[in-house]
Amino acid sequence: MNEKTLTVLGSTGSIGVSVLDVVARHRERYPIHALAAHSNVERMAAQIETFRPKVAVMFDGEAAQRLRELRPRNGRTAVLVGMEGLLEVASAPETDHVVAGIVGAVGLLPAHAAIEAGKEVSLANKEVLVLAGELMVSRARETGAVLLPMDSEHNAVFQCLGGSTTAPGVERVVLTASGGPFRDLAPEAFGAITLEQALAHPNWKMGPKITIDSATMMNKGLEVIEARWLFGLPPEKIEVLIHRQSIVHALVEFEDGSVIAQLGLPDMRTPIAACLAYPERIALRLPRLDLTQVGKLEFEAVPRERYPAFFLALEAMHAGGGVPALLNGANETVVAAYLDHAFPFTEIAAILEKVMRKAGALAKSEAPPPCLAAIRGIADAIEADALGRSLAAETMAETRSRKPDPGK
Ligand SMILES: NC(=O)c1ccc[n+]([C@@H]2O[C@H](COP(=O)([O-])OP(=O)(O)OC[C@H]3O[C@@H](n4cnc5c(N)ncnc54)[C@H](OP(=O)(O)O)[C@@H]3O)[C@@H](O)[C@H]2O)c1
Repeated sequence: MNEKTLTVLGSTGSIGVSVLDVVARHRERYPIHALAAHSNVERMAAQIETFRPKVAVMFDGEAAQRLRELRPRNGRTAVLVGMEGLLEVASAPETDHVVAGIVGAVGLLPAHAAIEAGKEVSLANKEVLVLAGELMVSRARETGAVLLPMDSEHNAVFQCLGGSTTAPGVERVVLTASGGPFRDLAPEAFGAITLEQALAHPNWKMGPKITIDSATMMNKGLEVIEARWLFGLPPEKIEVLIHRQSIVHALVEFEDGSVIAQLGLPDMRTPIAACLAYPERIALRLPRLDLTQVGKLEFEAVPRERYPAFFLALEAMHAGGGVPALLNGANETVVAAYLDHAFPFTEIAAILEKVMRKAGALAKSEAPPPCLAAIRGIADAIEADALGRSLAAETMAETRSRKPDPGK
């Protein structure tokens, strides 16, 4: 039995909770060194009670203080704070395996710290590879860190490749996408979409940011970029098909015409268990796939008019350098504003489209920011991300100021 001591970054989120659900079924195999979150003190306190980590990190200072005040009950757990705390637990010698389950670009530095420390790293936090995929993968090769894809589609590809990120003779990788809640809605009706509808994913239960990204299909665009670096594939070898049943998570086609697919019910605990147990398997008593119940498996191409954000992500991938990081930063900013009821659903892609045009103009300007041309180090990724955020903020402000004042 392969025992691993874990650090779970983002333990209070959708991925984190599913990771701990799997851990709870195999407690003897997965002692917890550290749990980390942003500010959800109540959930963290409950997790400390159950899993007794040596360390808990709250990114938010006030939340860390509140957690410390609960210490009489959680006395054996040290409470750390901020990015410093995240970096410490991600690289701690006591940890064998780090789950990168934080949402967004803020997860880049802790994932990087884990890679630099040569850990086994389960990557759910896809933004890490979107920001600096080439760098992360090459650093992992140098430090001996093992990158395990926790995202279901990438985990599926990994399984199709026999538990590897490389394999000879791969001709094409197909990632599937559910198409989100609006796959059957006429594009003319998109103007009336409410936030509640956008948050109601038909097949998966996930955090709010990735759920909105699934509705726009930006998520799948980010996943294509993630797959590119993780599996070392040129963009033209990665395809996406809409598969509304979310049963086939990915397919790999080889030079000889063989196609290997990975199937399973849409439950993140399955790819999570595959990562935690790697290279072994652990038992999970979950409902099993019954293909007679599913009946049919359908696949369709991705229609451009319905999912413009997906095609913006592909455009960013082809532009290369820091453009994916820029688009990701812009997307995080725009989605956060959308979740705050700032504008209608259709504006997400419209604003991102404008950001991409501005980025294109900047790249062609007399003094283009060097981070747009290449990500030479973490600092470039952070700079490109920040540029995307500021272009998004500027574009959202312009969009607001152009709107007619309803009072006039
Ligand atoms: N959910 C899924 O099924 C799924 C599937 C595949 C991939 N992913 C990817 O996995 C990542 C997590 O997604 P999710 O759905 O689990 O998101 P989520 O439910 O929103 O959870 C996000 C987690 O990150 C923590 N966090 C946010 N900012 C932080 C910071 N600055 N420092 C420390 N922790 C921070 C949150 O803490 P608080 O609770 O304290 O805010 C929470 O624990 C995303 O990159 C997503 O794309 C998710």
